[in-house]
Amino acid sequence: MPIIEWNVNLLVGIQEIDRQHKHLVQSLNDNYDRFREGTEIDTSFLQELTDYSAHHFACEEGWMEKTSYPKLAAHKEEHGLFTSRISEFKKEHKRNASVSVELIWFLCNWVTHHIQETDAEFGRFVDVHNIRRTRAEIARRGEIDTL
Ligand SMILES: [Fe+2]
Repeated sequence: MPIIEWNVNLLVGIQEIDRQHKHLVQSLNDNYDRFREGTEIDTSFLQELTDYSAHHFACEEGWMEKTSYPKLAAHKEEHGLFTSRISEFKKEHKRNASVSVELIWFLCNWVTHHIQETDAEFGRFVDVHNIRRTRAEIARRGEIDTL
């Protein structure tokens, strides 16, 4: 059972960003399942999160720059917090500490607060630039499953 259900409330409305968010949620769910079956979070998932966030944040911030988003600086700060928290998890993991529960909890919070609130706020902002497709439109076309 997924710890986070991918659903329309998580959509920002920019396909490139939504695809990357969906990938994160799927990865989190996969790792949660493995953890429930007794496998601790390993280095490869921590590395995946580092690579994913570098690429994903650059992409999101790129969208914000090109739309002159006024909250870009504050948004970048939240991204910076994610990056440094993941580095801490890596250090803890290297010291052989178990980070699984805390990391899963941290990522759930990230999805429900950062993606669902802060990123969604950017989605509403880009409405004025007419580049966003609304959640209702995406759901109506059944595209949420094909992202
Ligand atoms: Fe973001």
